[in-house]
Amino acid sequence: MDKTPNTPANAEARQVYALRMRADNDRRAMETGRRRKAFFLTFGCQQNEADSEKLAGMAEEMGYDITGTPEDADLIVVNTCAVREHAEKKALSTVGQYKHLKAKNPELIIAMCGCMVSQAHRAEEIKNRYPYVDFVFGTGSLHRFPQLLCERREKNKRVYCPEEESPEVAEGIPIRRESGYRAWVSVMYGCNNFCSYCIVPYVRGRERSREPEEIVAEVRGLVAEGYRDITLLGQNVNSYGKGTAAGWDFADLLAELDRIDGDYRLRFMTSHPKDASRKLIDVIAASRHVARQFHLPLQSGSDRVLRLMNRKYDTAKYLETLDYLREKAPDVTVTTDIIVGFPTETEEDFEGTLGMLRRARFDMIFSFIYSPRKGTPAAAMEPVPPEVQHARFDRMLALQNGIGYEKNQALLGVPLRVLCDGPAKSNPALMCGRTEGNKLVFFEGDPADTGRFVLFRAARADAYGLWGEKLPDRN
Ligand code: SAH
Ligand code: SF4
Ligand code: F3S
Repeated sequence: MDKTPNTPANAEARQVYALRMRADNDRRAMETGRRRKAFFLTFGCQQNEADSEKLAGMAEEMGYDITGTPEDADLIVVNTCAVREHAEKKALSTVGQYKHLKAKNPELIIAMCGCMVSQAHRAEEIKNRYPYVDFVFGTGSLHRFPQLLCERREKNKRVYCPEEESPEVAEGIPIRRESGYRAWVSVMYGCNNFCSYCIVPYVRGRERSREPEEIVAEVRGLVAEGYRDITLLGQNVNSYGKGTAAGWDFADLLAELDRIDGDYRLRFMTSHPKDASRKLIDVIAASRHVARQFHLPLQSGSDRVLRLMNRKYDTAKYLETLDYLREKAPDVTVTTDIIVGFPTETEEDFEGTLGMLRRARFDMIFSFIYSPRKGTPAAAMEPVPPEVQHARFDRMLALQNGIGYEKNQALLGVPLRVLCDGPAKSNPALMCGRTEGNKLVFFEGDPADTGRFVLFRAARADAYGLWGEKLPDRN
């Protein structure tokens, strides 16, 4: 397989293949009176969501219509996640369900991409045990999607795009955004941290940062188009900037983006506590657009476990950052990630985590039971029995539910500016939305408010959401 260089100049190379596919798809549409359709299914984090928006953008460039129904599709792409075993199992079982669709539509092409298939053993498994998967490509080969599809169609043989050693940053890929008012903007790719439990550095490669002018131009464009909520993405945004020509760090980037005029919020994720600097916190505190929300994954409240996790901070350093943040920006919502039942975790270690939850009083936590990942150092450590993991997980949730409840009670009666997301899935009679602190709210309102900021006041709250009314606009 010829490789297109993965550099900003690759846009042209990509387009050559995209146009070839487009000619094929257009010819087919003329012959049959029906345009080919592509369906995307995405597992995993926002980074994967953002990648899928690029894949869909490239599919449109290739002349596909996008469909939400796999049964209608001529091309199915499953974008996978590898962070926990559950995510991998789900992707494999879902792709299994698509097999029978090939009987109905022999032209159907099924592709798998993303983090799971970036692992050599998973790519092999797909090759050997999932013969109906036509092609597979890793996270570093996103921009090769048109080329791989072209080769699959023209040569009629299954294609495997092995992971690249050090993929560069691909610019210029068209993006088909899911929302007209919330947007993801990747600022960097990959991770250098090698936390001992985590597969991400193995499946997303080393850190690569986009040049700031590319990011500024993208955000400026989004604001001009009326986007209201823009989230900057990276596995560790705090180490943004290494290797870029401008030599900016993340705080510099955020400060520059904040200068763009408009009615919008900026968010970012994820911050690593070892790199969350005072400079960054000062920028947030002084900013006009940066949402008062900070996601700072703690992972464990035991210094011994943090060392085993290779996190490179201890609880004292974490609290120092948190206290500085709360001093400078007291209204900020703080959320975290916790792993329960990491290998060798003792009752005392776990008590340390509970102690940190009491001390830090997070607005919300995302908690995960440790899942061993093949090839990571922690997978070789002494496991904690599943029943102990589950019992600890339940205890932790019970504690956090109380804290989250109290935190949300403090917001009752306070007018909050929320971005309306339209009718709630759980109850379409109510609108749902997000506060600046990213809290979920529900209120009686007008679907026409979707994508707009509205003023909201909560009358009731639990640990996960706020219920209340829409207030008249102030102006
Ligand atoms: N780069 C981000 C997020 C990475 S994955 C960060 O550093 O925070 C998101 C979360 O999944 C992690 O924060 C961690 O809490 C969890 N996670 C990662 N690997 C895991 C594993 N093997 N088992 C359970 N949870 C895991
Ligand atoms: Fe995984 Fe750690 Fe990198 Fe986050 S910082 S992606 S947890 S290795
Ligand atoms: Fe999953 Fe890859 Fe994200 S492993 S969590 S989709 S970076």
